[in-house]
Amino acid sequence: MVSVQDTEGGKAKANIWTDAAKFKANGDKLAADAARLDAAAKSGNLDQIKAAFGAYAGNCKTCHDEFRNN
Ligand code: HEC
Repeated sequence: MVSVQDTEGGKAKANIWTDAAKFKANGDKLAADAARLDAAAKSGNLDQIKAAFGAYAGNCKTCHDEFRNN
C-alpha cells in the first residue's frame, strides 16, 4: 500500500486514498462522458456536441474541487 508521504510533489489531496471509490467513480464518469462526446462529435450535430462537451468538461472541475489542491 502506498502511503500519502510517498506522493510528495503532487497536488492530489490525501482524501484520494480514503475516498478512492469516489475518485474512481469520477474517473469512470469522465470516461463515459468522453464516449458520449465522441458519439456526439461523429453525429455532427452542434447542439449535441455542445451539450456533451459541457457534461464532459464539468467532470474536470468536480474532481479537481474534490481531490486536487487548488
Ligand atoms: C477522477 C478525478 C479527475 C478528473 C475527472 C480530472 N482530473 Fe485533472 N487532476 C486530478 C488530480 C487528483 C490532479 C492532481 C495530480 C497531482 O498533482 O499529482 C489533477 C491534475 C490535473 C492537471 C495538472 C494541474 C497542475 O497544476 O499540475 C491538469 C492540467 C488537469 N488535471 C486537467 C484535467 C482536465 C482537462 C480534465 C477533464 C478533461 C481533468 N483534469 C479531469 C483529478 C482529476
